[in-house]
Amino acid sequence: MKETDLIIIGAGPGGYRAAEYAAKNGLKVVIFEGDHVGGTCLNVGCIPTKSFARDAEIIQTLNNAETFGLNGLDYNFDIQNVIQRKDEVVSSLRSGIETLLSHPNITLVKAEAKFVDAHTVTAAGEEYTAPHIVIATGSVPKALRLDEPASRRVLDSSDLLSIDHLPERLCIIGAGVIGMEFASIFNAFGSEVTVVEFLKECLPVLDADIAKRLRKSLEKRGVTFHMQSAVTAITNDGVVFMDKKGNAVTVEADEVLMAVGRAPRVFDHFSHAGFEYSERMGVVVNEHLQTTVPHIYAIGDVNGRQMLAHAAEMQGIHAVNHILGKADEIRLDIMPAAIFTQPEAACVGLSEDCCKERGIEYVCKKSFWRANGKALAMNESEGLLKLMVSPQGGILGCHAYGAHSADLIQEVSALMCRNTTVEQLAAIVHIHPTLSEILQSAAEQ
Ligand code: NAI
Repeated sequence: MKETDLIIIGAGPGGYRAAEYAAKNGLKVVIFEGDHVGGTCLNVGCIPTKSFARDAEIIQTLNNAETFGLNGLDYNFDIQNVIQRKDEVVSSLRSGIETLLSHPNITLVKAEAKFVDAHTVTAAGEEYTAPHIVIATGSVPKALRLDEPASRRVLDSSDLLSIDHLPERLCIIGAGVIGMEFASIFNAFGSEVTVVEFLKECLPVLDADIAKRLRKSLEKRGVTFHMQSAVTAITNDGVVFMDKKGNAVTVEADEVLMAVGRAPRVFDHFSHAGFEYSERMGVVVNEHLQTTVPHIYAIGDVNGRQMLAHAAEMQGIHAVNHILGKADEIRLDIMPAAIFTQPEAACVGLSEDCCKERGIEYVCKKSFWRANGKALAMNESEGLLKLMVSPQGGILGCHAYGAHSADLIQEVSALMCRNTTVEQLAAIVHIHPTLSEILQSAAEQ
């Protein structure tokens, strides 16, 4: 039996950041990973999609080349190059993480770990024990339950990231974060994209007004959306759904992407440790990320709280601080998020709809990309920012879409973490000309 201070199961952003932080704070860590280090985010999520999104952005710019005085430009799109560049980005970051995990206090075991009991795991024929264990096993794509099994191969986001050809017609089921990012990317690549969504509007996390504008923007680029439509079958021809009037409609497609959410990645062997979990909700945790067996923690997607890489990282650091008995100022309740469509969208805190639903008094301050000098110079005039403010001037939330909106939202998150008022925000000098002035001008209203 090998003894250590901390066992971490899973080397995604939650697990590897927790390992690095714990090691720097003097703990001996054994971290287990059954696949590549970096988890979903690095290998088949955030990073490869951002590599694709950058290709899509360049194509979009080239499509408007004449606006920038580049006449008669011609190019060929080669998806093999796009995939190769994405693979190079991923592998360079992967080796960065392996270097990070070569810290003298960290042992990386490249094998799947299984619980034997609440203090012991087994991997590759060896048993390991520690006073504290952190579970960071991530999530898996959900699939639709249909009456008949699909009569063709249905792709998930990982499959679509390593596709070796450009689908002529791509049908995406689900207009959530994954569905919208891939719709934006493959539309720019040249596929004919159709999205089928169950709800009335895309991106339920986002302010509905902003989500609608973003959807309309993709529609203008040629993406077809079928909202309030329930998929009933996936056949060799494509996707069959019931539209809002009750008619059965078929979308013909060469490839089908299933993007209807992700589920916490839980295992039967979790039951050997005795903590509470379920397939649907994941591992139950408290505000310190402790499971119902207090020396075992669960961070990231597996606890089903906030399925975001940066949430996993900060949860991991908070869990390690709790193990070390160290107080911290991490605000897991202020969790910014971004959707890397083109234009991108981002949010933190309450949307206008949430304020209305919860009966919270608010003032909504708006600002538009079209009124910002830098945005016009960039030829990025599309975008809207909505800043929700309490009657006392407290910042309740901010939702936006438009070029680099994630960077603007990051500023709002920082200010919210420090309880900055909207008057104080308006008084902060912002560099001219930058997109950050969009936020300042909303605050000034
Ligand atoms: P999601 O939960 O964001 O969206 C799933 C969508 O599928 C919803 O709009 C839902 O209404 C729809 N849907 C469900 N059943 C349906 C049906 N029968 N027919 C049609 N539509 C149906 O899930 P998604 O996009 O798969 O993403 C999974 C997770 O990964 C999310 O938690 C997301 O936050 C995370 N993620 C984050 C990214 C980012 O931060 N940029 C990028 C990609 C994923």
